[in-house]
Amino acid sequence: MIELLRKRRSVRKFKEKSIESEKIEILKEAVLRAPTSRNIMPWEFIFVTDKDKLKKLSEAKQHGSAFVAGAPLAVVVCADTDRSDVWVEDCSIASIILQLTGLEHGLGSCWAQIRNRKHNESESAEEYIKNLLGIPEHFAVENIIALGYPDEEKEPVPYSALSLEKIHMQKF
Ligand SMILES: Cc1cc2nc3c(=O)[nH]c(=O)nc-3n(C[C@H](O)[C@H](O)[C@H](O)COP(=O)(O)O)c2cc1C
Repeated sequence: MIELLRKRRSVRKFKEKSIESEKIEILKEAVLRAPTSRNIMPWEFIFVTDKDKLKKLSEAKQHGSAFVAGAPLAVVVCADTDRSDVWVEDCSIASIILQLTGLEHGLGSCWAQIRNRKHNESESAEEYIKNLLGIPEHFAVENIIALGYPDEEKEPVPYSALSLEKIHMQKF
């Protein structure tokens, strides 16, 4: 795991190549193995490979989601907020598991934040995606994770660049 973490970077440029169905099945298994508070599993995952939908997802907000259009796969992570008060944590854990499992299988990925973001002055990014994908009203959309074969090379962050001052021992 530490070797994966050492090379993990956000990837926003993807090759045209689609992701093999066996790998997509592994990604589905991975998110369903994510731990959740009280084992409630409030999340749902919408796997999107349709080009037209990917383009529309990329327009969910004005900045920071354009890269979704160039990905062969986007996973929209949403949750039934009536079922858990810690759905944000549950969705976030599943999201990083998805990203790291992708990386283990040669896939780059990037998180596009949707919760608390605007589509435009009158509509939230969340409402826009709920309308686009038919997500029920009482659900919340946390993010979109775009995945694909990387078409950009990013240097790993060297150990010397880590914010070691963020680590405290015994007290702050
Ligand atoms: C909660 C969260 C929200 C993020 N939202 C976006 C986003 O909306 N658009 C984007 O391009 N990157 C987004 N990112 C990726 C970060 O910009 C990226 O992880 C950070 O700059 C560090 O770069 P690295 O992942 O290559 O180490 C998000 C990451 C996290 C964890």
